Amino acid sequence: MKADPDKLIIDGTLGGGGHSEMFLKTGARVIGVDRDPEALAHARTRLAGFGSRFSTFEGNFSQMPEIPSVQQGELVDGILLDLGVSSRQLDSAERGFSFMREGPLDMRMGPSSPRNAADIVNHWPEADIVRILFEYGEESKARRIAGAIVRHRAVKPFVTTLDLANCIEKAVGRTGKTHPATKAFQAIRMAVNEELESLAIALNNVPKVLKPGGRLLIITFHSLEDRMVKRFLKHSSTEFLDEPGWPEPRPNPDFQFRLLSRKAIAPSAGEISSNPRARSAKLRVAQLLNLPS
Ligand SMILES: C[S@@+](CC[C@H](N)C(=O)[O-])C[C@H]1O[C@@H](n2cnc3c(N)ncnc32)[C@H](O)[C@@H]1O
Repeated sequence: MKADPDKLIIDGTLGGGGHSEMFLKTGARVIGVDRDPEALAHARTRLAGFGSRFSTFEGNFSQMPEIPSVQQGELVDGILLDLGVSSRQLDSAERGFSFMREGPLDMRMGPSSPRNAADIVNHWPEADIVRILFEYGEESKARRIAGAIVRHRAVKPFVTTLDLANCIEKAVGRTGKTHPATKAFQAIRMAVNEELESLAIALNNVPKVLKPGGRLLIITFHSLEDRMVKRFLKHSSTEFLDEPGWPEPRPNPDFQFRLLSRKAIAPSAGEISSNPRARSAKLRVAQLLNLPS
């Protein structure tokens, strides 16, 4: 990814700082946003050599309009959102994201998350657990897993990631290569961090932060996120709306983007072989239009 010198970019998901570094190397200024203070500290050290061209904002990317320079009226040339958790977060046992590593049932990307994974599995009503497993995990065995969670916690509350992973494996068995807790862990993580809610707010905030002509790039790893981005961009890049029963098409009040790629861009085979976690990534790119107000 490249940005021209003197452009100002918000990297809304700073993580390890890899994308920010690419922008900085081409001369741009970057504001790195992350809700994880550990990620911010790590990236600040990694990118210190870029001096004042790199700055950070601790918070949710849904809060982009609250970034001090944006508040002072400076709009940005580009926004990148590379959704989900970072490898650093996943690989760190004590963050509780992995069903392969013993750790506390945490899964918060940062301290601002209103709950942790233990709160959900130990206290949420069974129906709500079923709902998130279905909705966020697209888990067809949601009822069976939620039932097992509720029976287990009645005897002994869940404490660690492996308590939960083992309970799920016992409930649904293991077939194939994928661990049977994969979808449930993803669903619980998305609920802990209110990931879809944050994305919906961020999409609506983009025109408050981006210059007319500026670009929005979003990388998703999950069909629900991709669907949300695709629908938002499709609607907001449609100039006229038409419905059966209307005498003629009407101007779309939400028309404000131009799609720079009609379809999602998938990673190349080379990218997947150097980073297997990229295999389900989809990139969508759009440009904010310069419309008369
Ligand atoms: C997939 S990683 C980004 C990796 C990064 N592009 C890189 O090059 O290293 C996602 C990062 O975004 C952060 N993140 C995810 N959702 C967020 C949100 N709603 N607000 C702020 N940060 C978020 C996570 O804490 C994580 O550090």
